[in-house]
Amino acid sequence: MNKEVIPINEIPNFQSRAEEFFPIEWYKEMLHHHPVYYHEGTNTWNVFKYKDVKQVLSNYEFFSSDGPRTAIFVGANKKPEKATSISNITMVDPPDHRKSRSLLAAAFTPRSLKNWEPRIQQIITDLVENIPVDATVNIVEAFAAPLPSMVIADLFGVPIKDQHQFKEWVDILFQPYEKNRVEDIMQEKEQAAKEYFQYLYPIVVQKRSNLSDDIICDLIRAEVEGEKFTDEEIVQATMLLLGAGVETTSHAIANAFYSMLYDDTSIYGEIKKNTELIPNTVEEMLRYRFQSSRRDRTVKQDNDLLGVPLKKGDSVIAWMSACNMDGDMFENPFEIDIHRSNNKKHLTFGSGPHFCLGAPLARLEMKLGLETFVKKFSRIERVEGFELEKNLTDSATGQSLTYLPVKVYK
Ligand code: HEM
Repeated sequence: MNKEVIPINEIPNFQSRAEEFFPIEWYKEMLHHHPVYYHEGTNTWNVFKYKDVKQVLSNYEFFSSDGPRTAIFVGANKKPEKATSISNITMVDPPDHRKSRSLLAAAFTPRSLKNWEPRIQQIITDLVENIPVDATVNIVEAFAAPLPSMVIADLFGVPIKDQHQFKEWVDILFQPYEKNRVEDIMQEKEQAAKEYFQYLYPIVVQKRSNLSDDIICDLIRAEVEGEKFTDEEIVQATMLLLGAGVETTSHAIANAFYSMLYDDTSIYGEIKKNTELIPNTVEEMLRYRFQSSRRDRTVKQDNDLLGVPLKKGDSVIAWMSACNMDGDMFENPFEIDIHRSNNKKHLTFGSGPHFCLGAPLARLEMKLGLETFVKKFSRIERVEGFELEKNLTDSATGQSLTYLPVKVYK
């Protein structure tokens, strides 16, 4: 059964790409005046306050991930055929969710992260080495876009030479649905999914008889309550990880650079001088500059947990990026502050049973990325005349930068 897509962009009705890229005024308005807001056109409830967003994301007894509608419409759009079906992990509630989650989590243990660190560092070192000094570079193309797909290709254990092909598939599979092109886009996605499957399936089969140290092999080894993934499920799992982990992380890295160039130009110098500030800087970027993080849930049983009468079947949208600016949670929320002590509490990675499995990986890529960058370049500067509006594109993460010129100095 295909899910109905909620045309979520109709809710804020942004007037420009730049406004959607950083909808701070709209968030202010909603947080201060309409913290729980019913939008008639889309027939959705919308929540913006930190405590409400957390409740909607994590209280699965009342707010279900399994519903007939979806606001984030990516690769898989079918309801699960069986409870453990991996590609639908984001669309089922506990207890069914637990088994797929535990199987998938086998590839994301702290130990695997430690093992991967040198590989990730090597990819980052190579990318940074290729950036010339005293030059102007498009940081999206040179760094933010290739890094997560190269990392995931490497962690899957497929040849790095295939990373461009990977990125193409990802771009097609996870492009957002435009209202007028739903059928066309659906077909493009089906084609890309077919090609991806044909590419990866033989690799999984071959790895089964020759286990090594990568995500696919971890998924082959994983076993929960006597159940293991089939080869087909492993291909589906990798597709899920591509969809969940590549574009999001690219977006986060590109936006961190944007922030250092346009929000507060002192940050770069500060983290260069003291690299211990980098983990907290990463958290602040995720809180402040990762926009359009939002998820939908379906009301499972009548309740008034949000202070309004909700009926079974109602759709609720939790606006995480807005709740990251809730003054009840974060002091001076509309200011960027890399020294903020509680910024790790942002909900950019969600909350509750579906909390992002790849959060430690995304954080590590961002941290190592910034550390390596500040080691090589003494300072960075924006390029005058850059027009934000012209360099954004629709994506599953809202508006993403396609081009961001940065002057980099030795
Ligand atoms: C900055 C980067 C990222 C952001 C902002 C992000 C955000 C999120 C959010 C908000 C959710 C929760 C969905 C919900 O509650 O319905 C989620 C789930 C998930 N993420 Fe991420 N993610 C990022 C990177 C990654 C990476 C690198 C991977 C893995 C390679 C990954 C894998 C997953 C998976 C598998 C889930 C589903 C978990 C479940 O449903 O149990 N994510 N992510």
